[in-house]
Amino acid sequence: MTSGSSLDLTLALRVAVQAAQEAGRIQQEYVGRAHTIRSKSSFSDLVTEVDGLCEAAIRDLIARTYPLHAVLGEEEGEQGQAGAEFRWVVDPLDGTVNYAHGFPFYCVSIALERRSGGDSERLLGVVYDATRGELFSAVQGQGALMNGQPISVSGTPTLRTPALLSTGFPYDPGDSRNLGLLASLLAMGVPVRRPGAAALDLCYVACGRFDGYWELGLKPWDSAAGALIVQQAGGRVTDLAGEHRPDGPVIVASNGLLHAELLAVLTAGNAVERTER
Ligand code: IPD
Ligand code: CA
Ligand code: CA
Repeated sequence: MTSGSSLDLTLALRVAVQAAQEAGRIQQEYVGRAHTIRSKSSFSDLVTEVDGLCEAAIRDLIARTYPLHAVLGEEEGEQGQAGAEFRWVVDPLDGTVNYAHGFPFYCVSIALERRSGGDSERLLGVVYDATRGELFSAVQGQGALMNGQPISVSGTPTLRTPALLSTGFPYDPGDSRNLGLLASLLAMGVPVRRPGAAALDLCYVACGRFDGYWELGLKPWDSAAGALIVQQAGGRVTDLAGEHRPDGPVIVASNGLLHAELLAVLTAGNAVERTER
């Protein structure tokens, strides 16, 4: 067992990778079967039995090495020692709606953070796309990898190069804040995708497939690993005000080069559409 500042990040990364691969194995074992599906916060906020199976497997593997660490998982909430210095942040199946429909864009996301006072520092993140066998990982200060090879953000300089962007939407149909932001970019003619798995969207920014991504209303488990992976790949992650708040519900991630331009469009909202006509 490891505790305090002596945490061995190489071992912690190994545990995270093992847990992510086990969850990915479960996802692939059950994919395409009839799932037990129920809705959570709204009719479109789905959870399947696979979400729970994956989270249980991840918790079990983490606890074998780190019984004193806290684990915050989407399905079971925070468990373990209250106020523990180290906390794992887990989305056992990111992209559940896709998964339940057999649309192959989903993943598992696992991050480890160190808490001190009211602050937290991300130490590592792992995102595993079992469909494609792509494992994204990053350790603070050590760069980002995909399947062990270094990755970096794109060199696309402006939105009109053109950039390829992605976004996502909250399950709450009453929260329509993002529609105006999306309209602004579409009105400019910028290609925007909505793939449906926030952690993987972030990793696609990290490896240069997307030049930027934004979403409002995320939970910590959606972005904890992916935001660190983007930063370690040389990208930038802020809120809409350009502040460094990768923990927050509003995330704007990019290759850094077009970040200011993207923020300007997103914060100008529908005004941009008018000026472009
Ligand atoms: C969702 C996905 C989706 C995003 C939502 C998330 P879940 O996570 O990441 O892309 O737009 O905001 O809640 O529910 O599939 O784990
Ligand atoms: Ca999620
Ligand atoms: Ca999830």
